[in-house]
Amino acid sequence: MSLRRITVLVSAAGAPGTAALLRGLRENGERDVRLVGTDMSERSVGRHLCDAFHLVPAGSDPDFANAVLDVVQREGADVVLPQSSFDLEGLAAHRGRFPVPVLVSGPDTIHRSNDKAETYALLHRIGVPAPGFRRVNGAAQVAAAARELGYPERPVCFKPVFSSGSRGFRVLDPTVDRAHQLLHERPGSVAMRLEEAVELLPEEGGPDLLVMELATGGERTIDGIADGRRVVLGHPKTREAMRAGLAMYFVTLDDPALMEIADRIVAELGIEWFFNIQLVGEHVIEVNPRISTIVYQEDFDLPYLGVKRALGEISDDELAALRGRIRPGRTALRYFDQLEWD
Ligand SMILES: Nc1ncnc2c1ncn2[C@@H]1O[C@H](COP(=O)(O)OP(=O)(O)O)[C@@H](O)[C@H]1O
Ligand SMILES: [Mg+2]
Repeated sequence: MSLRRITVLVSAAGAPGTAALLRGLRENGERDVRLVGTDMSERSVGRHLCDAFHLVPAGSDPDFANAVLDVVQREGADVVLPQSSFDLEGLAAHRGRFPVPVLVSGPDTIHRSNDKAETYALLHRIGVPAPGFRRVNGAAQVAAAARELGYPERPVCFKPVFSSGSRGFRVLDPTVDRAHQLLHERPGSVAMRLEEAVELLPEEGGPDLLVMELATGGERTIDGIADGRRVVLGHPKTREAMRAGLAMYFVTLDDPALMEIADRIVAELGIEWFFNIQLVGEHVIEVNPRISTIVYQEDFDLPYLGVKRALGEISDDELAALRGRIRPGRTALRYFDQLEWD
């Protein structure tokens, strides 16, 4: 352990990937890392797994960035690694005021990625396959858009223009067996008939919704670090075994065509630092300009490499040279764990 000890602030330290991320940062094989967690909830695992923990307002609160900046100063953090989509906009707007690197893209990039209608329009423009869509508001417009996109001959889906963790996502499918769902499935089935959705949706005052063609096929993501123009380092992986909106099983892939798609999206959106581009079948359905689930290898620790990049300890050429280390077929299985205290 010859390198100096550093302090990393991890936001949203109750997010699902937190325990693995903290372990990845600690078990870097070359230095001590002090971990500082922040979250809006006291009941965050980061409070127990980090060396220090601070409650902060929600990411959407205007005071969020100031609160994180205050923690950076009090704890002497060397870098800020945001985990949640909800934390990005506030941090992006204020990243220039931080005395240390904040691993977030600029405000325009964040805004255009978080707004799925903007993202889809951009994907269509650059020729990346993405679902057909309509941006609408209110029950009547949802119904009209669903019919335009092929309902009831074809199932369609909708979600709020900005959300995260599958919140608000529903499939509209006229053939769905609602009685079977009710009696035999876990709560959380996403399929319903258009008439049911229309009955529940407000006619006005609700969020803008994106009504989309339903993409089909296996889910995959491309994850990596970008420099605003291209992917510096990253790889695709599958995204499988969904539970409550979260994938629990991932297999690393070797797929140069997907990396090429990622490069085009990164260039168009100007993504910096961590990103996660999500596909269903051949369609890109979401761009997350933040870290997501990582498949760790003992010789390839993407979050830690991002931190080293932020500290100026590794160049982009050196990072690019690590591509050969990524092992296709490497598999991650997530599971529930717990801890106790008095
Ligand atoms: N157009 C679509 N076709 C098929 N599935 C979709 C589509 N849009 C979203 N989904 C499904 O819903 C999940 C959540 O949607 P996503 O756009 O990733 O939003 P978020 O992760 O922000 O909640 C995706 O992982 C995918 O399973
Ligand atoms: Mg998603």
